Amino acid sequence: MQETDSPVNHDEPSHVFYRSPGQSLPVVVRGEGIELWDATGHRVIDLASGISTTASIGQGRSSVAEAMATQAKQLAFIHNSWVTNPRQEELAARYAALAPSDTNRVMFTSGGSEANELSLRIARQYHLAKGHPQKWKVVSLSPSYHGATMGALAMTGRWEIHGDYAPYLFGGARVSPPVRFRGPFRDLDPKEAAARSAMMLADVIEAEGPDSVAVFIAEPVSPSWGMEVADAGYWAQVREICDRYDVLFIADEVVSGAGRCGSFLAMEHFGVTADLSNLGKGLTGGYAPLAATLVSDRVAETIQSAGRGVAAVHTYSGNPISCAVGLEVLDIVESEGLYDRSRDRGKFAMKALSDAIGDHPNVGDVRGLGLLIGIEYVASKDTREPLDASFDVSRRLWDAMWARGYLLRTLHHGSALVGDATNFVPALTIEEHDLVDASAALRDSLDEVFGY
Ligand SMILES: Cc1ncc(COP(=O)(O)O)c(C=O)c1O
Repeated sequence: MQETDSPVNHDEPSHVFYRSPGQSLPVVVRGEGIELWDATGHRVIDLASGISTTASIGQGRSSVAEAMATQAKQLAFIHNSWVTNPRQEELAARYAALAPSDTNRVMFTSGGSEANELSLRIARQYHLAKGHPQKWKVVSLSPSYHGATMGALAMTGRWEIHGDYAPYLFGGARVSPPVRFRGPFRDLDPKEAAARSAMMLADVIEAEGPDSVAVFIAEPVSPSWGMEVADAGYWAQVREICDRYDVLFIADEVVSGAGRCGSFLAMEHFGVTADLSNLGKGLTGGYAPLAATLVSDRVAETIQSAGRGVAAVHTYSGNPISCAVGLEVLDIVESEGLYDRSRDRGKFAMKALSDAIGDHPNVGDVRGLGLLIGIEYVASKDTREPLDASFDVSRRLWDAMWARGYLLRTLHHGSALVGDATNFVPALTIEEHDLVDASAALRDSLDEVFGY
């Protein structure tokens, strides 16, 4: 197949203000399934779903393009503060049917940061509706990531990302998650780590003053913890503690939801329902911007019966084209059985990776849920000491894998609990032989990067 022509001239400086200004980036011009081609014709297999689980059904799906075009011709835009549109209504009903039985309302936004901020505004309305205006504080985990806008950054627990903006961010208390690879809960029995971490949450709420704490927000499985999976008891205790103090529990499922962990919500795996659940990324497989906040009946009814609402909404909330894409992507996910596939391929990938790299001296751990897999690197397998930041394993591994025909993202976390970890999150459609080949390429790349 012919590559698409690129208008980019690498001899001229780019007018794009990149994330790291002055970088020279490969220009990706085409995608088909899990494959991408850059303007030079170099082909890579995408092991990151673009970024953190987004391109979850593969590229080039003509039925999604057709759904988008049909909707654009029929109704491209309305604003949902005065009218609604059929696609928004249908999609909200589909998500409500997939959500736990006591969660039946959905509000749409365009991305995960917006969804997390929206859930904070909804939580605020809930507490105001109950006559508790003094409840406003946020407790979150450190490390964690909840998005790039100021409110989402304020809830984020990753200093290397939010630290520069601290003067603009409302303060919030942070708690350590029950990570057992490193730190105070190292190698504890999972239930014991869960109990200790949950106790810290209760302690922090008590210290802040239960009358002032509005929400606890957490990712069910987090790239910021290198995808370590907490014991289900942790989430059950979180639920109980939030209920005890009338603190709303917000599950940030932007990465873990939409089938990535083998179910619509990763929280299903732990048997716990959050008051507000935020989904994004994989909802549209990257074909259009869309995020969704699922609102439990208790929260929705409290706000509604007090005659309150959420005045501040976004221009593209419930956008007909994004919702049409969401519907088509959900049809694909369901008709191709991608939740089951995520579970099966996840197990297969864990084995393939463990076989290929498990004994590598700098691989500390391979873990995850479904096709949400993290690989953490260490300076020493015994001490689990993280790699020095100056070694820049993320960049080295990216380069080594790109040269071998793979796009793979590794993050440096700058946290005492989590060092450098790869997000191994290919599309849910990836084949087993691609997982085997990718694992072998990763072994090869690690040997090169670490000089073996
Ligand atoms: C867990 C989590 N929440 C929220 C976000 C923010 O989503 P977005 O980039 O779509 O605003 C991200 C993005 O990576 C994320 O990983």
